[in-house]
Amino acid sequence: MKILGIETSCDETGVCVLDARGDINNDFAFDVKGNALASQTSIHALYGGVFPNLAKREHQKNLVPMLEIALQEAGDLRETQAPLSAKTSAMLLTTLEREGSLRESLVGFLSKYEKPDIDAVAVTYGPGLEPALWVGLNFAKALARAWDVPLVGVNHMEGHIAVSCMEFSDTTGHMRETRFPILSLLISGGHTELVLSKEWMRYELIGQTRDDAVGEAFDKVARMLGLPYPGGPEISRLAEEARHKKITPDFKLPRPMLREDNYDFSFSGLKTAVKKIVDARALLNVERKHMIAREFEDTVADVLIGKTIRAVEEFGVETIVVGGGVSANTYIRSELARRLAEKGFVTQLLIPPPKLSTDNAIMIALAGYFRAQKKEFADFETLKATGNLSLA
Ligand code: KG4
Ligand code: ZN
Repeated sequence: MKILGIETSCDETGVCVLDARGDINNDFAFDVKGNALASQTSIHALYGGVFPNLAKREHQKNLVPMLEIALQEAGDLRETQAPLSAKTSAMLLTTLEREGSLRESLVGFLSKYEKPDIDAVAVTYGPGLEPALWVGLNFAKALARAWDVPLVGVNHMEGHIAVSCMEFSDTTGHMRETRFPILSLLISGGHTELVLSKEWMRYELIGQTRDDAVGEAFDKVARMLGLPYPGGPEISRLAEEARHKKITPDFKLPRPMLREDNYDFSFSGLKTAVKKIVDARALLNVERKHMIAREFEDTVADVLIGKTIRAVEEFGVETIVVGGGVSANTYIRSELARRLAEKGFVTQLLIPPPKLSTDNAIMIALAGYFRAQKKEFADFETLKATGNLSLA
């Protein structure tokens, strides 16, 4: 089955063509035929964060070019002489009524190219920034209608879990061996969650952040240190340098909620604690920045790993899946593995390659395939962008 995956929940515009086969329970495998990603981070960096309406405009601009690249890579971009039917033109007018320039570019695309060899369109419909989600969703609806193929609505967080469960070798991949129960630690710019699954695609939320998401905390602390957006990779780089140069912090940050008997998180107090340290001195020199980045990353790792390990013990977890942009963090990845080994746990640890940890369309096409296998196709009229969509 060939799936066109579309992702626009935040600041990455992703389109891919995935050729998938087999069953999630045993022989699932795939080829990434084409994959295109336009990152808006350098635009948002100018403002220090993501602005939903700016993200929306960028998605409107980037979707058709990304579609062309993905189909071109897949060898599935063939020119047509047939004019666009009146019915399709009318459909585009209504489906993309609110999408400004995107409608014109899609009219141009559909007038120029034949229907590709695609069996279904999968798109993120939540969680995320609603104005951004709507663009991708309306675009997916327009394509699925124009090509007369089914539409699959994908939960972005299920996409992060799905991609983490795959073994990749270049552009092909397959399902890694997994044992239940699975615990997913989902850490991104919008989420910090611990989710338990006793079978595929069923989720029980056992803990979540009560305020800021962990990626958001990375981004805000980076801003305090005068580092660009997105802050995660910047903080991580400084923290790594500090460890390497043996720059040891002369202060300690609180480990919020680490000792509390639940699986919830809180990062807003931590952010305030960092602000106090920053404000305590008139000058924020390079050494001080190194200390703050290192202690902040240590703290976040302690809290995330502490709670994860406790959940592994309590629920007899056999597989840990780590997903979301923050799972690209080298220190959190290696510390989690180290501490599990130190405890003598044989729990499997599944983390995607760093470049698939952050948002992309492959993860959406993977989850879309699994939903399509269950015949969970979307109703074009009722599927809505849902900013606060949850897994459970
Ligand atoms: O999953 P993602 O790409 O988008 C959302 O769904 O939110 O996650 C983006 C978040 C940002 O907050 C970014 O700072 C963080 O992931 N991030 C990192 C690293 N790379 C990205 N955080 C810590 N260390 C990293 N290496
Ligand atoms: Zn994400």
